[in-house]
Amino acid sequence: MSVANKEFKPLIVAFCCNWCSYAGADLAGTSRLAYPAEVKIIKVPCSCRVNPLFALRAFQKGADGVIICGCHPGDCHYSTGNYYTRRRITLLYSLLDYLGIEKGRTHLEWVSAAEGTKFAATMNKFVETIHELGENVRLEDLRCKSE
Ligand code: FES
Repeated sequence: MSVANKEFKPLIVAFCCNWCSYAGADLAGTSRLAYPAEVKIIKVPCSCRVNPLFALRAFQKGADGVIICGCHPGDCHYSTGNYYTRRRITLLYSLLDYLGIEKGRTHLEWVSAAEGTKFAATMNKFVETIHELGENVRLEDLRCKSE
C-alpha cells in the first residue's frame, strides 16, 4: 500500500431502508460492533426509493462508493419494493459500466433488523474494497466543487 493510499479516507454513501437495514445498523451500533466512520447512512423508506440517479449524484458529489441495503427478498415492508430495487440495481450496474465506473464501487446487500453483525461486516468489507479501488476520479470534472 502506498503512502497516498494510507491517507485515503473514502466517502461511502449507504442508503438503508427504514424497516430492516437501518434497524440492522442500529443494532450494530447498540451491540458496539465497529464499522468505519466513513460510511454515511441515508435512511430511505424502502430500498426501492433509491433512484439509480441518486447513486450517480453521490458519485458526482464526491462519493467513492455507494451501497444500497434493504430487507431480504420476501420481507420488504411494502411487499415487493426490494424486487424493484434488484432490477434497478442491474440497470445501474450497466449505466456505471457505460460511464467507466468500476462495478465494485456499488453494492446491494440485504440486511435484516436482526443482522447487526452482518451490517458491520458488510460495511467493513465494502470499505476495504473501496480502499483497494482508490479514489473515484471518474466523474471529477462534473463534481460540484465548493470554493
Ligand atoms: Fe426494506 Fe422495502 S422496506 S426493502
